Amino acid sequence: MLMPPTWSSPGTLTTMDASVASNPVVVAVLNQKGGVGKTTSVVNVGAGLALAGRRVLLIDLDPQGHLGLHLGVDPDPAAPSAYDVLVDPTTQLDDALVKDVRPGLDVLPSTVDLAGAEVELTNATDPHGQLALKIAAAKRHWDVVILDCPPSLGHLTMNALVAAHEVFVPMQAHFLALQGVGRLLETVGRVVRSVNQQLQVTGIILCMHEKQTTLGREIESDLEQFLESTRGNGQPWSNCRVLRPAIRRNIKLAEAPSFGQSIFDYAPTCPGAVDYRRLAEGLSRDWINAGKLSSPPQVGAAVEVKPNPFAANPSDVMSAPSSTQTDGPTTEAHGQD
Ligand SMILES: Nc1ncnc2c1ncn2[C@@H]1O[C@H](COP(=O)(O)OP(=O)(O)O)[C@@H](O)[C@H]1O
Ligand SMILES: [Mg+2]
Repeated sequence: MLMPPTWSSPGTLTTMDASVASNPVVVAVLNQKGGVGKTTSVVNVGAGLALAGRRVLLIDLDPQGHLGLHLGVDPDPAAPSAYDVLVDPTTQLDDALVKDVRPGLDVLPSTVDLAGAEVELTNATDPHGQLALKIAAAKRHWDVVILDCPPSLGHLTMNALVAAHEVFVPMQAHFLALQGVGRLLETVGRVVRSVNQQLQVTGIILCMHEKQTTLGREIESDLEQFLESTRGNGQPWSNCRVLRPAIRRNIKLAEAPSFGQSIFDYAPTCPGAVDYRRLAEGLSRDWINAGKLSSPPQVGAAVEVKPNPFAANPSDVMSAPSSTQTDGPTTEAHGQD
């Protein structure tokens, strides 16, 4: 049976040789459906990792530009953006970044002109390799780069898949029959294999999850069994697991983008913040154990209580112990499973 990783407190992170992991872990967050929680997960996993002391770059590959908006980044239309990085060989990543939108968190925003890149890249010599080239050439260093893919499988998504080491698929399990999950993974797997043989679909993020319902629990368990049945089948998702904790449906997660805030800025003790913090901590720990990340010197920073300069209410704290849950539809601790 698939054993989900057990997340413990940041203080238990394994100490690794600091020489490991000079290259960032690059993760593409992909689902060809819209509205499943891709951008929400990119923003809040990224912000959670940055709060835990990681240097993080978030790249918006969706012309809707929601990632930047979610973090209150208002790109200057005249400044270079993701479009220029992809189509102009002379625009480097460092030229187009919005640096330190939060401590340790950089953003490459997109604007609507990114939609034009789908057409323009068709004529490029290497239409799918541009982003990987620019990430490799960047002067700035990150521990983790997370790519927010558009809800399509065109050139923009292909650029993400060539650049990435891992793919996470956010999904709302209760909308999907298991055949749907299988088809989704097959589609993602086919695309993955066509552009990057090394790439693995490593995680499913259950978003807007309703574990307190029987249906929610059944689907979660069916999904685990389905993934277990595909172990060792040679597919790009044969090591895929359901990432823990599942992210509960929480209205604060839907409200935070309107304020240009991550969940840790907006409501740092709500269930959505607890879930995303624990997810980020668990991913960090997994990557450390896999030798992909070194332990940051300040691993305890995520649980320090300090004023949050981005909060609507400045008395809110930046982060709180993972067990704190003060509002929302359920107080169930998902990370325990
Ligand atoms: N766990 C959650 N609880 C409540 N609302 C959520 C949750 N996750 C995402 N949402 C909301 O659902 C909508 C779609 O999420 P989004 O991340 O934009 O999806 P995608 O990027 O896949 O299109 C947004 O309005 C978002 O605020
Ligand atoms: Mg999105």
